[in-house]
Parts: sequence; C-alpha cells; structure tokens
Amino acid sequence: MTISLKSADEIEKMRIAGALASSVLTMIEPHVRAGITTAELDRICHEFIIGELDAIPAPLNYRGFPKSICTSINHVVCHGIPGNKRLKNGDIINIDITVIKDEFHGDTSKMFCVGKPSVRAQRLIETTYECMLLGIRMVKPGARLGDIGHAIQSYAEARRFTVVQEYCGHGIGRNFHEDPQVLHYGIPGTGLVLEPGMTFTIEPMINAGKRFVKLLPDNWTVVTKDHSLSAQWEHTILVTGDSFEVLTRRPEEDF
Ligand code: MF3
Ligand code: CO
Ligand code: CO
Repeated sequence: MTISLKSADEIEKMRIAGALASSVLTMIEPHVRAGITTAELDRICHEFIIGELDAIPAPLNYRGFPKSICTSINHVVCHGIPGNKRLKNGDIINIDITVIKDEFHGDTSKMFCVGKPSVRAQRLIETTYECMLLGIRMVKPGARLGDIGHAIQSYAEARRFTVVQEYCGHGIGRNFHEDPQVLHYGIPGTGLVLEPGMTFTIEPMINAGKRFVKLLPDNWTVVTKDHSLSAQWEHTILVTGDSFEVLTRRPEEDF
C-alpha cells in the first residue's frame, strides 16, 4: 500500500479540482425536477464540465463506464448509469460528480429529492449526511481510519439503518481511486494513522433495509438486495496540520 502525501502545490490543485466538482452539483440542482431523464442530467453536466470548467468528467470511459456522471435513484446504491428513466415525484437521487483538472481529481456527491420525499426517505437522507459529517469530523493527524468508520457505523445503526460494506471511500489525487480504502464501518483505534497531506473521500452508502447489495447485469448499477431505499453523500477531504479541510465544500455547507 503506497499512500501519496500531497505537496503544497498538489494540494492547491486538489482545491481547484474539488471546487469545480462541487460547482457541478450546485449548477445541476435546478434541473433535478420531475420529468427530466438522467441522460439529460448527464448531458448538462458533461457540457458544463467540458465547456465551462475546461475540465474532464472522470467517469466517462473509466473502466468502461459509459457516461460522465453517476445517477442512483431510490434503491440504487451507487454507480447508476444515466439513461432514459424520467424522474418522478417522490424519487430520491444521488448525483456523483468527479472531475479532473490539471491532472488532479475532485469527487463529490449529494442527494436530491424530486418533489416531496416520504418521511422515511427524508430521515434516511438526513442520517446519511450526518454519518458523513461525523466521519469527516474525526479527521486529524494521528486519528485512524477505524475511527472514521466507527463514527459512521455507530450513528447509522443507532438510527436503525445499515451500512453498505462492499464499496468504500478512497484515496484520491492524480488517480481517481488510490490507497487507502476508507471503510464506512470499523473499530476505533484501528487502521491507518492519518497524516497531513493525505487526501481521500468519505462517501457512506446507508440503506433503509438490510445492508446487502447486488450488481445488475450491466455490471455497474449496484442495488439493495431487498430493494429498500439507499442514500449516499460524498466529499473529498484533506488532512491538514491540525484537522481537515473539505476540498469539495459547497457554499451552503459549514463543517
Ligand atoms: N464517483 C464514484 C466514487 O465515488 C466512482 C464512480 S466510478 C464510475 O468513487 F466509473 F462509475 F464513474
Ligand atoms: Co469516490
Ligand atoms: Co464519487
């Protein structure tokens, strides 16, 4: 396992890539409405990333992924492929954006509600955001990856939700996915010790039902085995000298 510690110059590039990725989520929000297809959302993001940001949508052709963003609706856990499906009232959707700017990646996702979500969907979305936040707040030099995973898992389970174990956060930088793997469950005081200059994502996937998932025949779309709702939020984080910096923070967020 080789974990790259980013230099001051590289951190500045990560800040820029992170800010651009977050701007895509802000840009797309007014378009996430009943009647639009996920392929249309993909096209709008694709054109914005290339035309306005002068950046590259990292998912496109990544290990054969056919589109520029991931769109994961309701019981889809992650890696949903944009297509002809139209959003309808009551849907919840995760949009996951990764851009490459000046060779560095920024990776972030958020949940959107189409019209009014059910009380259960709203509670799942809020709990998942809180899980991510609690994980982020554990980040500082000397803390360990197990501290992050434990914070996420204990909050999710206290709320009677479950943590997806098959997919995790990841180191990020010149590569989309690099070491370490950032599990969203774990034991405090175990795992990798965090050091200044590390950059990784925290991106918990939390299910309303059982934790189990299955991969659809398209070989990308991950769904809950019991078809229960799933939610996810993601940020790219830098370990600083004394705490953390959220490289993909949006204007409305405060950490
Ligand atoms: N953005 C996803 C993540 O958070 C990865 C998507 S891989 C893709 O790691 F190929 F589906 F884009
Ligand atoms: Co990620
Ligand atoms: Co992502």
